[in-house]
Amino acid sequence: MEKYLDMKSKINLSELQKVAGIIKNDGIVLFPTETVYGIGANGLSKKAVEKVYKAKGRSIKNPINLLVSDIKMIESVAKDITELEYKLMDVFFPGPFTIILKKKDIVPNIVTAGGDTVGVRMPSGEIALKLVQESGVPIAAPSANLSGSLSGTNLNDIIGDFENKVDCIIDGGDSKIGLESTIVKVVDGVPHILRPGAITDVQIKDVAGDVVLDYLNKNEFLPSSDMAHYNIKNRCVLVKADKGQVDKVNAILEQYNNAVVICCNENACKYNSKVILNMGAKDNLEAVSRNIFRLLREADRSNPDVIVIEGIEEKRPRQGYYG
Ligand code: TXA
Ligand code: MG
Repeated sequence: MEKYLDMKSKINLSELQKVAGIIKNDGIVLFPTETVYGIGANGLSKKAVEKVYKAKGRSIKNPINLLVSDIKMIESVAKDITELEYKLMDVFFPGPFTIILKKKDIVPNIVTAGGDTVGVRMPSGEIALKLVQESGVPIAAPSANLSGSLSGTNLNDIIGDFENKVDCIIDGGDSKIGLESTIVKVVDGVPHILRPGAITDVQIKDVAGDVVLDYLNKNEFLPSSDMAHYNIKNRCVLVKADKGQVDKVNAILEQYNNAVVICCNENACKYNSKVILNMGAKDNLEAVSRNIFRLLREADRSNPDVIVIEGIEEKRPRQGYYG
């Protein structure tokens, strides 16, 4: 079979079944999900998961979540699931939501970095979901980027880093959401958000009655919280969203000859810079999410003196994204 499969406009089920065969045979695959691209392997095979760590250059102290296709598969890898955990999964699966559960012995220690919990997510992206279904095993799939780098939301941005390391590549076009899943762990009956994502705190509070935003401070439950993420090569300045934002950006631009500005549609005409990258309308947080990783990579590739990013105003309650 071809190593590169184009499923941008249509899923080819018989090809996907062959890819599932690669997963079952301990191969590794680059594929799209609705959040970001993933690099995945049979989550029940130590040998296969080792290849994923190696391809990403990932620390073995950083556990990997499992993509699953149904509740039965979740129950095959996790135990002692509480009523609230079932409820959260019922509302947010399939979708951009990962929940940390108690692991069963069948999950190899390499997946959980030796810990007694395992993260599970049921993706809504059709290619990812069907790939798990056809494989018949959970797929251990971190985001498809070299460790420490930006997540990949289209194949172009990541193929060079992985084409010689994976057995198969599925092109599914641009990621629909463009940000990773929200990671939640229920602690003493209260959901803690370990990593923010497309499912908002407001949505989780609506379901559970309470929520704790761990990512704002200590984050003791997220093993990767002290590791570097989203590194880029060039100098980058984020200018907070407030009344003086446009003037502040222009003041920074005056100091550099070769700048890139990443800004909202409304302000794109206000900056004195040769390169202006448009994230979308200021109020369209879905568009901003979809575009931000791609634009950061594009800006970084051009090696400017500085990348100036307009911060976006946080809106509460936010328009959420389900499934
Ligand atoms: O949307 C997503 O979640 C994407 C797509 C590909 O599914 N995946 C993703 O995986 O973002 P990754 O590996 O880049 O980020 C997963 C995060 C890591 O920070 C890891 O430390 C944390 O989940 N994690 C994994 N297992 C965990 C566990 N048992 N307890 C706490 N955190 C865990
Ligand atoms: Mg990642």
